Amino acid sequence: MRVILDCDPGIDDTYAIIFLTAAAQAGLIELDCVTTTSGNAPADQCARNAAWVLGLCGLPIIPLAAGVPEPLEVDLTTTPETHGDTGLGYATAPERHVEHDWDALWIDSIARGTDDLHLIVTGPLTSLAAFAHTHPEHFAKLKHITVMGGAVHYPGNTTPSAEWNFWVDPHAAADVFALTPTPITLCSLGVTEKMVLKPEALAELVDRLGGSPVAEHLEAITRFYFEFHQDVGEGYQAQIHDLLTVLIALDLVDYQSTETTVAVEADSELMRGTSVADLRGIWEREPNACLVTEADVEAAWERFGWACDVHAKVAAGDAEIEELRHLRADD
Ligand code: RIB
Ligand code: CA
Repeated sequence: MRVILDCDPGIDDTYAIIFLTAAAQAGLIELDCVTTTSGNAPADQCARNAAWVLGLCGLPIIPLAAGVPEPLEVDLTTTPETHGDTGLGYATAPERHVEHDWDALWIDSIARGTDDLHLIVTGPLTSLAAFAHTHPEHFAKLKHITVMGGAVHYPGNTTPSAEWNFWVDPHAAADVFALTPTPITLCSLGVTEKMVLKPEALAELVDRLGGSPVAEHLEAITRFYFEFHQDVGEGYQAQIHDLLTVLIALDLVDYQSTETTVAVEADSELMRGTSVADLRGIWEREPNACLVTEADVEAAWERFGWACDVHAKVAAGDAEIEELRHLRADD
């Protein structure tokens, strides 16, 4: 399996990167590249954040670039109140030069074949929509697209009906679902809000990370998110949406989904970013989504614990990593 991660780190995106780098270190996947969109923080800041986390996870060599900096039509809104001033809670990534050749990275990866290529988007869909418009011939070759976004028949986290990623760039979300060459595996809030991390579990995960450099920063990164969730009435815990999305994309946890047609509202101020699934087939349109309806969250946290063990072994220079190469959803 090969992966392109398009993300907006972002605290829960960081957990997705921690898992993907462990899976790459264990030979489970090839992480072709990481690109960033503006969402939790501006795309360039997200790229600095991603670069730092990739380095902490032992993979500073992964091709990385910042994507399209502004939403297709609306003004950019970021969310320092949710993810911190620079997007990593109470931690701050060091300043660094940021590349911007994100579409060349995608084209190179697509040119290597798409049968086993998984494009996973855990931020706004700005770059994917831009790619569809500017490189339609390459966009058409994509066969596996997984998106974290939407509040399908479920309360929004940004407006009463909209989830953050779709609200930040509603035109991009609308375009992607209108143009996609393959049904998108959609991980929306009704499922991803169940991926809850509590402080005691975080302490155990940090312990399992052992001497991995990321262990030194994960508490400071995550504590901000605990405080945000408490402030909005969710309790002192955190919803790690993007980690569950990655595990579903790679079929590393059991999940249920239903094929349907999804549309996203882009022009209404009140309903901006609202996503609807035509579960009764009233529109009689071709399906463009596999809407995930439930997922094994307990197994997802077991997979992340495995990832922490991998990082600890890599940090210890432990050759035993071979043992972990055979992880599969049915292990
Ligand atoms: O609504 C949750 C999503 O918005 C997650 O991807 C989080 O990182 C933010 O981008
Ligand atoms: Ca995200």
